Amino acid sequence: AAPVRVALLGAGTVGAAVAQRLMDRADLFAQRVGAPLELTGIAVRDLGRPRDLSGILPGLLTDDPESLVDQVDVVVEVMGGIQPARGLIERALRGGADVVTANKQLLAQHGSELEALAAGAGRRVEFEAAVVAAVPVMRTVRDALAGDEIRSISGIINGSTNYILDMVARQGMPFQEAVRQAGDLGYLEADPTEDLEGLDAAAKIVLLARAAWGVDVGLDDVQREGISGLTDADFESARGTGQVIKLIASAWRSGPASGSASDSAAGPVSGPRIEVAVRPTLVAADHPFGQTREGTNMVIIEAESAGSLRLSGAGAGGDETASAVLGDLINVARSRVAARD
Ligand code: NAP
Ligand code: HSE
Repeated sequence: AAPVRVALLGAGTVGAAVAQRLMDRADLFAQRVGAPLELTGIAVRDLGRPRDLSGILPGLLTDDPESLVDQVDVVVEVMGGIQPARGLIERALRGGADVVTANKQLLAQHGSELEALAAGAGRRVEFEAAVVAAVPVMRTVRDALAGDEIRSISGIINGSTNYILDMVARQGMPFQEAVRQAGDLGYLEADPTEDLEGLDAAAKIVLLARAAWGVDVGLDDVQREGISGLTDADFESARGTGQVIKLIASAWRSGPASGSASDSAAGPVSGPRIEVAVRPTLVAADHPFGQTREGTNMVIIEAESAGSLRLSGAGAGGDETASAVLGDLINVARSRVAARD
């Protein structure tokens, strides 16, 4: 079968892992898709930067992402930031490509426009990796629970701050040293204040709230506080009471369920009344959140019929995030191959 052509935008923590797996697992992926995945190019910002991309042809690297997106079936965007990522995704969709992205800030700010553009062009924008990396929480909320009514979603959905809080609380590591180590592990955003000030978690909870309730909630609706203002005294007093501090993101239905008569009276967002928050929270050390260590994430979903569901696993890291990116890529590629018949 003719190959599905794939452009990769970004070869950093996530992009390098995606590229590597596309090479290592080429036969397996061809089997799963029904056609080979052909990586036609990898866009980076700095061609001179030394990189460990063993087995990947250096000729695939380019600093001209526009020329790449015009010639492929699927664009995988893992460069991050708003521009040029937004313009490239729009260009890809207009040109007939599907898009897979891990870019939660772009989606939280412009996701509705991108999805409208994709729908108009008969194309898809998939982003499982943007929310809690390897843990399939978007699919659970959007697809698996489509026949249920979600009451609330809460969780530890930022791996780097969980790592930092865990290192400071359990190992007594100085805060700045823990931040440095989270960076070395590939957990931090290019701008670490996104993690430390709760912006990363805010973007993810916004995407989950939209998927759960179909509401037009945005970053400005999030009651947000990060972890950079925490002091040694805060950690000590938590310890003294058998608790730990966790950065908890939550979204909950505080008004009537969707479809009820009083929906039109909803608060800041349309649809059911939804509140969203990200804040450092004291939790009992033996609570599932209190037991969530290092870069691990955990999400608890409460739904009317399903009851309480708990998902946990790696919420950050190159290979872990690549797992979710590649899952989306294979699903999108399969649909394209099926549509050829
Ligand atoms: P990163 O390590 O900073 O890598 C970014 C890559 O994009 C680099 O290869 C960079 O090129 C390239 N790039 C940036 N701006 C570019 C431009 N204008 N033109 C061409 N190439 C450009 O970032 P990352 O950690 O892989 O994260 C990528 C995305 O995945 C972000 O949206 C992030 O939020 C998301 N994400 C990350 C994780 C994680 O654990 N790291 C988890 C989930 C989601 P150079 O190499 O030349 O600098
Ligand atoms: N910086 C993010 C985190 C990466 O720490 O969770 C994964 O989205």
